[in-house]
Amino acid sequence: MQYGYFDDTMREYVIERVDIPVSWTNYIGVRDMCAVLNHTAGGYLFYKSPQYHRITRFRPNGVPLDRPGHYVYLRDDESADFWSLSWQPTAKPLKHYSCRHGLSYSTYLCDYGGIQASQTHFIPLDDPIYLIDVTLENTSDEMRSLGLFGYAEFSYHHIDFDNQNFQMSNYCSGSSYEGGIIEYDLFYEPDGYQWAAACFEPDSFDCLRDRFIGVYNTESNPVALQNGECSNSFEKTGNHCAALHKQIYLLPGEKKRFVFMIGEGRREDAQDLRTKYSNPEARDTARAELAAYWQNKLNALQIATPHAGMNTMLNTWTLYQGEINVMFSRFASFIELGGRTGLGYRDTAQDAMCVPHSNPGKCLSRIKELLQGLTSRGWGLHLFEPEWFLPPTEKKTPAKSPTVVPVPDTSDMIREDLRDTCSDDALWLIATICEYIKETGEFSLLDEQIGYADGGEGSVYEHMTKILDFSAEQVGATGVCKGLRADWNDCLNLGGGESAMVSFLHAWALDYFVELCRYLGKTEDEAKYLEMLEGVRATCERELWDGKWYIRGITKNGMKIGTQESDEGKVHMESNTWAVISGVAERSRGLSCMDAINAYLYTPWGLMLNAPSFTVPNDDIGYMTRVYPGVKENGAIFSHPNPWAWVAEAKLGRGSRAMKFYDALLPYHQNNKIEVRQSEPYMYCQFVMGRDHTAHGRARHPWMTGTGGWAYFAATHYMLGLRPDYDKFVIDPCLPGDWGGFTAVRRWRGATYNIEVRNPSGVEKGVRRITVNGSEVKAVPVCLEGSVNKVVVEMGNH
Ligand code: GLC
Repeated sequence: MQYGYFDDTMREYVIERVDIPVSWTNYIGVRDMCAVLNHTAGGYLFYKSPQYHRITRFRPNGVPLDRPGHYVYLRDDESADFWSLSWQPTAKPLKHYSCRHGLSYSTYLCDYGGIQASQTHFIPLDDPIYLIDVTLENTSDEMRSLGLFGYAEFSYHHIDFDNQNFQMSNYCSGSSYEGGIIEYDLFYEPDGYQWAAACFEPDSFDCLRDRFIGVYNTESNPVALQNGECSNSFEKTGNHCAALHKQIYLLPGEKKRFVFMIGEGRREDAQDLRTKYSNPEARDTARAELAAYWQNKLNALQIATPHAGMNTMLNTWTLYQGEINVMFSRFASFIELGGRTGLGYRDTAQDAMCVPHSNPGKCLSRIKELLQGLTSRGWGLHLFEPEWFLPPTEKKTPAKSPTVVPVPDTSDMIREDLRDTCSDDALWLIATICEYIKETGEFSLLDEQIGYADGGEGSVYEHMTKILDFSAEQVGATGVCKGLRADWNDCLNLGGGESAMVSFLHAWALDYFVELCRYLGKTEDEAKYLEMLEGVRATCERELWDGKWYIRGITKNGMKIGTQESDEGKVHMESNTWAVISGVAERSRGLSCMDAINAYLYTPWGLMLNAPSFTVPNDDIGYMTRVYPGVKENGAIFSHPNPWAWVAEAKLGRGSRAMKFYDALLPYHQNNKIEVRQSEPYMYCQFVMGRDHTAHGRARHPWMTGTGGWAYFAATHYMLGLRPDYDKFVIDPCLPGDWGGFTAVRRWRGATYNIEVRNPSGVEKGVRRITVNGSEVKAVPVCLEGSVNKVVVEMGNH
């Protein structure tokens, strides 16, 4: 079953059938102000922090699934019938409905009662103001008298105030109305103000939610809509809203445009912005700037391949997903409600690795934040606030409620012992730093001095050595890296037991570092870390090979996880993919372990994390044995590691196999299977229920997953094989043999490369000849800034 389609020209996903089984969301805003908004305009708005500065309220995990939101209602004053332009909350039988989720905006179109309406929700790049740009057209033959209402419910800013202890919270906020502008404040905070207005002088308004809605009504049938006007309410204390109403008249065929706005700041801050955005031209300009902002990012790489789904996803949606994760971290969605913020070490490092070409600035600031969250012993703080490391003058102290709640001391979060330390966290950062430099050529980053989380400072280069040395020290009985609190898999909790994946990751990071040392001419370090790498390689091959594939780890009691003899958790994705990606597995072992993945873990919905799922709890292995079979880390199709298998297959040269795995997970292919998939077909989800679950194929937790970044990285760098290097641009595709080739436009270090890959003899891997602007070269060099270069790559056997 299908609910919508991809509009590639507009780079929009168009939802035409509104009763989707779960919310399909979008992200509005790219800087300080952001809204998470679904296909019925349900969602919430925040400023900088979804934890401490929520502007509008959301009631999560509820029925219906999307309340409240940012709503526009219309009321026919003749018949007293009213409806909402986003279908919900009134849920009237609209003659036409569609929602177009685009890059940082959503447009809703509706046709009802002879009025065609559209509304676009967006936030201009440079102003902290949420706009709902409404156009109404009278398609009936009569003059129409209509009530136009905008409505949003304010939040008590702090997620805690908003969800508990109402004997305090209910009395901490107030509202007022003056000159067409509603002002909302949270008086515990010196800057706890927002305002709301429209382009018109309202005929009536409400600042009190319960006066607009009525205490026995809901957003579906607010009393204000029943009455045809608001009750002009405001008060100190209570629950507040921004409800503005205007009586409007439309002649037959007449079209009019309006705007509702919610702004950050005080009433006096509102005047200029209100005047500016009341002008439709200013809104059009702001929309065009937003479009240009995204176009600039997307221009870093555009592809044209024989695979329509890959084109649509890589050219727009997968990069969009990766970018949103880097911008907003992983903590604001309909599932992650914004009450847990900061940076997850491993997640941030991986997310940042995938966008240096489209968002070098943010990639760099994330790298620096992570370096500050590294202890001088070489492990990263698993979850931390970059704010902790700012000088006291720059820290924003969140507002306190008069209720005494002890505040934890941040020094407490940087513990001496390793009880919260994950064995993989900082290892990811090595590749992120190297990929950033390969993209930008900014080697000077390595010499920058950056503080350690527990005091002192060192160069970026030194931070990198500490990360590698820490993993070299933290090994268990067999010499394989300890699992500690967890490795990439949060639910594999081995403590002093050993993680195959981490040793492979260590090898991968070492390989990146040795290559960097070689390039920089640091021969001593090159030799030292090459020796470390050889040691890790030997240990892995000695201890982890099980005859047909690699084991996942060894418990602290010496039990091997993921062997041929195991009944449960027999084959695992993480160890086997990383054995190949790291370059540790010699070829025949690599082929064999990836064949095991294909044989045991492949499903038409993607690759499962492990199989068969665990059914017997075993605390030596960890929580994954206590998760229901087929769900999340226990035998689900955990999406994030799927691209690792594409990289591994591409490294092995099996293009058809890589594409088979790519195609299985691709949300685009599931667009017509929504009765099973349920979630957005334009986004990867954290996981899809595995074979051992009754809802096999159901996808959960869209957007906020490392899959977006990794899918982009794996497909562009390894399947299409377009990889920047320190002093050249590598083009080394691994494709299905029936691809005749593809083209790509890549921006790199200020030059443009128009790339054409030809595959005349239908090979899966191998490059026979490369020309740049007609001359044959061994590798594509860094070309002059501003130059446009034609690169032709011919695949084939030498
Ligand atoms: C979640 C976490 C991530 C972890 C993964 C597997 O996506 O955010 O850090 O690696 O689960 O457990």
